[in-house]
Amino acid sequence: MDGFEINKILGAVLGTCLFTLALNIVAGGLFTPHKPAKPGYEIAVTETPAAGSAQAATAPDEPIEKLLATADVNKGATAAKKCLACHDFSKGGPNKVGPNLWGIVGRERAVHGGFAFSTAMKSKSGKWTIEELNSYLKNPRAMVPGTSMAFIGLTKPNERADVIAYLNSLADNPQPLPKPQ
Ligand code: HEC
Repeated sequence: MDGFEINKILGAVLGTCLFTLALNIVAGGLFTPHKPAKPGYEIAVTETPAAGSAQAATAPDEPIEKLLATADVNKGATAAKKCLACHDFSKGGPNKVGPNLWGIVGRERAVHGGFAFSTAMKSKSGKWTIEELNSYLKNPRAMVPGTSMAFIGLTKPNERADVIAYLNSLADNPQPLPKPQ
């Protein structure tokens, strides 16, 4: 091998290196990935809330008088099956886990005979008005903190109105339900 041959080989090696380098630079320029500011995929979804749901969460409930105008006693009786585990609704019926509820609308709070009411309920004097029943049935512990009624509440305003209309019917002389203003 003479010097000329070695030069040719070195030249070829050097040439290849330069070519690879150049290719690398060009390819780098062409294919540099565009890095997003935040890693991960950006998913652009504009939420369209299901009709009413988001509104229901924020908007205040309709006044109970208005809901009572269209309340259905039979639907209320069905919904009130949720109460049967703890309450008897019949006239002169027994107390169960909770007190008998015959004539509860307009009844004095925590007076029903033979039932051990919680201190929280006993200290909340007054009569069960429609408004207060509505608020108690919506969230018992919010209205009477410390109540022994372990019931989550009826969240649907219409269902509460139906149940209240039903409770109101459980009396010797049911009072007329309030009319919307
Ligand atoms: C898990 C059992 C349970 C369920 C279910 C339940 N309650 Fe009660 N309820 C009670 C208990 C216990 C009390 C007594 C609360 C106290 O003394 O703090 C009570 C008290 C009440 C009172 C007050 C009674 C009074 O004489 O002052 C009303 C009104 C009432 N419940 C209505 C309902 C209705 C309507 C439902 C169904 C939608 C229901 N409850 C479901 C256990 C229950």
